[in-house]
Amino acid sequence: RFMRLLLNMNAKEKALADYLNIQFCRIVPGDCDEDASVLDEIGKTAAKELHALLPAGEFIVAVAGGSTMAQAAEHFSPELSQNREFMFVPTRGGLGESMSIQANSVSDRMAQLVGGENMALFVPDNLSEKAYASMKSEPSIKHTLSVMKKANCLLYSIGNAKVMMERRRMSHGLISSLEAHNAVGEAFGCYFNENGEIVYRLSRFGLQIEDIEKIPYAMAIAGGSTKAKAIKAFMKYAPHQTWLITDEGAANLILKGV
Ligand code: G3H
Repeated sequence: RFMRLLLNMNAKEKALADYLNIQFCRIVPGDCDEDASVLDEIGKTAAKELHALLPAGEFIVAVAGGSTMAQAAEHFSPELSQNREFMFVPTRGGLGESMSIQANSVSDRMAQLVGGENMALFVPDNLSEKAYASMKSEPSIKHTLSVMKKANCLLYSIGNAKVMMERRRMSHGLISSLEAHNAVGEAFGCYFNENGEIVYRLSRFGLQIEDIEKIPYAMAIAGGSTKAKAIKAFMKYAPHQTWLITDEGAANLILKGV
């Protein structure tokens, strides 16, 4: 199977996969930062490649949020569930972002379009210690978290740190501190620098960066020149089995050694 995948990548995709030490890359032409249709192409490609990635069987798919993921969801179709069964579960609760790009919305949308089930996680992501401690033992939340921990497929994007700080309306103090620590990217509630060192961790509910290592089918969907550093840095956490769907905007910069 691995040989087949190697043959299925062009030279640049193979070079990027080797450079990032992951199994597979697909590079869509263009830069989604300059042309919105490229983001749609990334989403369409992700949906298509998911078909190639997943064998027949039953899947619990952990689904992250963001505009890339929301765009990808629109390309999901019942074809995916022809020889597979799906339960979609969001990787986290509410983050105070626009409703349509919350992980809850994206996973629900995917479930609808594929014809699978969805399990929501209705809990704010940024809770006080006290609220966190009591909600953690809520039966419905416990149940969703336990299903999430059993995920055998993961779909996520990687954010540009500055964009994510603004979108989440972080305080000026926190933004300055993250800038002082040279945060370049965000994923799974963790802000990290160019070396992939975590400089701030936002949330405790949901899938943690340490959980992704053991998920057998994992796809990162992220493109755009402004995400090049973030993608490169995050791949330190991505297990080898990762598939990356990106664009030339990000890939060219990563290969130049941004
Ligand atoms: O955590 C990362 C973000 O979800 C990425 O968001 O796709 O809108 O850039 P985005």
